[in-house]
Amino acid sequence: MPYMKPRLHLLAAALVGLVLTTASARSQSETTTPHLRKQGAATQLIVDGKPFLALAGELRNSTTSSPAYMKPIWPRLTAAHLNTVLAAVSWELIEPQENRFDFTLVDDLLHDARANNLRLVLLWFGSWKNGKSTYQPLWMKTNQVRFPLIQNEQGQSLPTLTTFSEANRDADARAFAALMRHLRQVDGSRHTVLMMQVENETGVLDTPRDFCPAASRAFHGPAPIELMDYLQAHKDQLIPQLHQAWEAAGFKTSGTWEEVFGKSTVNKNDWRASSFFTEEIFMAWHYARYVGRVAAAGKAEYNIPMFMNTWIKQEISGWPGAYPSGGPQPTVMDIWHAGAPAIDIYSPDCHLTNFTDWCRWYTQSGNPLFIPESAGDAVGAAHALWTFGRHDAIGFSPFGIDGGAGTNVALAQAYDAISQIAPLILEHQGNGTMTAIVLENGAASQTVRLGNYNLEGRWMSRNPGGPTNSLAALFISTGPDDYVIVARGMNVYFTAATDPADSVALATVEEGVYAGGKWVPGRRLNGDETPEWKALRFGADNYTIQRVKLFRYR
Ligand code: DGJ
Repeated sequence: MPYMKPRLHLLAAALVGLVLTTASARSQSETTTPHLRKQGAATQLIVDGKPFLALAGELRNSTTSSPAYMKPIWPRLTAAHLNTVLAAVSWELIEPQENRFDFTLVDDLLHDARANNLRLVLLWFGSWKNGKSTYQPLWMKTNQVRFPLIQNEQGQSLPTLTTFSEANRDADARAFAALMRHLRQVDGSRHTVLMMQVENETGVLDTPRDFCPAASRAFHGPAPIELMDYLQAHKDQLIPQLHQAWEAAGFKTSGTWEEVFGKSTVNKNDWRASSFFTEEIFMAWHYARYVGRVAAAGKAEYNIPMFMNTWIKQEISGWPGAYPSGGPQPTVMDIWHAGAPAIDIYSPDCHLTNFTDWCRWYTQSGNPLFIPESAGDAVGAAHALWTFGRHDAIGFSPFGIDGGAGTNVALAQAYDAISQIAPLILEHQGNGTMTAIVLENGAASQTVRLGNYNLEGRWMSRNPGGPTNSLAALFISTGPDDYVIVARGMNVYFTAATDPADSVALATVEEGVYAGGKWVPGRRLNGDETPEWKALRFGADNYTIQRVKLFRYR
């Protein structure tokens, strides 16, 4: 047997080599697989090893069911300076028969996105869409005994899968895992797909909570130990409304849901006069457990960032059930964090005029900002600058980009300017050297401090659309007296923040563009182009970029 030894050595060496190669291939693909990474206070989306800013748009719900319908739309999206498309994957179309998957539409989507140099964020239309269940396959829809529905207080079924069913949850998790396994196989080395939205606008509509027998038993039973442990461990960081509800009920560490969070005040004659916070907390926990399991099953196959979008509470429908009760509203985001650790980001679908409030509420507890749905017009364009400049957003995405929004000039112009300075934005995320202002809802000016100066944006006397429009400016501080600014339709004034007795003047002002990340100056601005010889003027027609150097005098 002596001559066998070298052969065994060779075999062992080959095996070790194989293991090392596989391990290094895996670790390489793990580091290049899209993931989230902290930079200072910001969270960045890392794609192919580099931070990525998603200038996105969301397709309407049925668009991706037909590649032919989508064909003429792709080039329009690239022309509007998008780099990412949010596109639906429908459960009923990928699993038409139980356990028989058909990924043809997904493969077509990947192929066409790549051909048009676009990335994708896929929206999993699984158990829920807009608080209802319309995307589960027909073999589920027609079998409500095996796949049960939510019930209202009168015991009537609503067209919504209940969270109180392992069969519902496991069917969804199996399908989502199959989708993620397929994505790993066909996209694991290409990274066309950057993130997944798990479900769509979850929560129960038309009733503050599920009243099916299992739900009612759970509601009158003890609040789960895992939740209570989480709340105690994070007591000092909880979002104020949840903290207050728990405090008002005496910070109990065990008891029924109503003992721990208080009894809702119910006015059966007027829902608006009722408070259903405990019902909402209860539903949030059960949605979180269900969706968290679906997301975890998907991540076990292919681990890319996963987020949830939210039908946010509006004044005209401000009670749970009028908006989906249990979805990840900021007020119950802690409950979601406790119940669904596999979800990385909670997002608002925001078309409301108090957009900036929602950004603030959705960045509590370190939640990264990603806007999956918003307006796609001039208002959306301004909000894109706001989210990137003020909140270090990962991405911004108007809804219905294949409709009117896709051709909206203001959005395309804003995306053009943002994409030029994207490397600069990404470099400055999280370190306090970037901010933004937005003039809207009648505000004529706004001032913000950045670095050594206060920067004030004022409506120009002739602005596009007057105070009903929204305009924004994004400021990056590139040195002690230096700024790069993107803005439209406003004048920008400077005052000294560090030594207020100093007067501030313009040393040099250039307009220009960034090409391949390098500044290409155009006109040198002075005289009439610098109002009162001390401010910057940004024209009303377009978002443009200026670089300014300041000096001081007394
Ligand atoms: C919000 C949903 O999430 C979208 O899928 C879409 O239905 C829009 N509403 C329609 O405005």
